[in-house]
Amino acid sequence: MRRAGVLTLLLAVPSSAVVRFHCSQLVVERLDPLVNPGSIPSSHVHQIVGGNAFNATMDPSRDLPAESSCTTCQFSDDFSNYWTAVMYFRAQNGSYKRVPQLGNNQFETARGGLTIYYMQDAIYDRGQKSKVQAFKPGFRMFVGDIAARTLTEAARSRQLTYVCMDTWTSRAPETMAFPTRRCPEGIMTSLRFPTCWDGKNLDSPDHASHMSYPETGTFESGGPCPASHPVRVGQVMYEVVWDTKQFNDLEWPADGSSPFVWSFGDATGFGTHGDYVFGWKGDALQRILDAPCWFDTNCAKESNSTLQSVEAMNSCSQERVVDEDIDGWLDVLPGGFHVDHGRG
Ligand SMILES: *[C@@H]1O[C@H](CO)[C@@H](O)[C@H](O)[C@H]1NC(C)=O
Ligand SMILES: *[C@@H]1O[C@H](CO)[C@@H](O)[C@H](O)[C@H]1NC(C)=O
Ligand SMILES: *[C@@H]1O[C@H](CO)[C@@H](O)[C@H](O)[C@H]1NC(C)=O
Repeated sequence: MRRAGVLTLLLAVPSSAVVRFHCSQLVVERLDPLVNPGSIPSSHVHQIVGGNAFNATMDPSRDLPAESSCTTCQFSDDFSNYWTAVMYFRAQNGSYKRVPQLGNNQFETARGGLTIYYMQDAIYDRGQKSKVQAFKPGFRMFVGDIAARTLTEAARSRQLTYVCMDTWTSRAPETMAFPTRRCPEGIMTSLRFPTCWDGKNLDSPDHASHMSYPETGTFESGGPCPASHPVRVGQVMYEVVWDTKQFNDLEWPADGSSPFVWSFGDATGFGTHGDYVFGWKGDALQRILDAPCWFDTNCAKESNSTLQSVEAMNSCSQERVVDEDIDGWLDVLPGGFHVDHGRG
């Protein structure tokens, strides 16, 4: 369905910028320089992509493009770091196994990682023409709530969703909880960040309150930013494909609940979250956001940016600094987390 939509749009001249590109896995380990800076290990396991200057301390004064010698992202000028928690399968005997990741549609040969979008406008409803501002060096943000275990709590961070993929290109229906049925092609998680910035702070104590959702409506409907957060920035969205296929043949919970848990123990799915640390070189991101363009190749052409091959993306990686088993069958999740169904 989406494939047909993309083809239709490719035939039309883009009127705004929607760039979509992939970043392969940089490293999977317990580091979180945003929420637990300096902690080796941090609380729970993350999967991280982007520039290889990533480490346990990401002071806003660091110059990521200068400190990185490679990036796992397709745009050669993107040394940002993007990360999410990782998913585990919980077997009926109580053991956990990490769910591997796949490259996304059109990036099948990528080593896991995530697909990133920066949108000047919504993907489908593309009536907006106003420019959006790129982020500044040192900017970072967080979306989601690790402690959320109910739909009401999760709904405060709009647009963090799951798709049970019947086919490789399934993008609907979206749910806010873990899917409870076996998904033939895996589970896609999507995280859309807020799009209104206070225009002053590169970060905030909770890494979220310098950002806001539109005052009314949504980014997609062209809703205005509130006076407290007047600067409209591009919408950042992550898509992550979790390869749950190998677990479809195992026994699942008899009560019909999902056997998947996040690396911090959440079995509801409502605690899904994402972290973002801006690290584009010079004005590279602004050039893309200012160029009416579509996806990777066209946006690179229209903004005079360079793309690297998937092979080059895959060749950039980091050694783990936290030495622990995160991939075998585990009795407890790394960091000591147990399954949390959030049932009071
Ligand atoms: C992270 O990188 C910075 C800059 O290279 C360095 O000063 C710092 O010591 C590193 N921190 C760790 C924990 O490796
Ligand atoms: C738990 O179940 C999984 C899946 O069936 C199996 O592979 C694993 O060996 C079991 N672990 C233990 C400790 O029995
Ligand atoms: C790309 O380069 C061409 C040729 O140098 C220039 O005319 C054009 O303005 C540039 N476009 C952007 C978006 O920088």
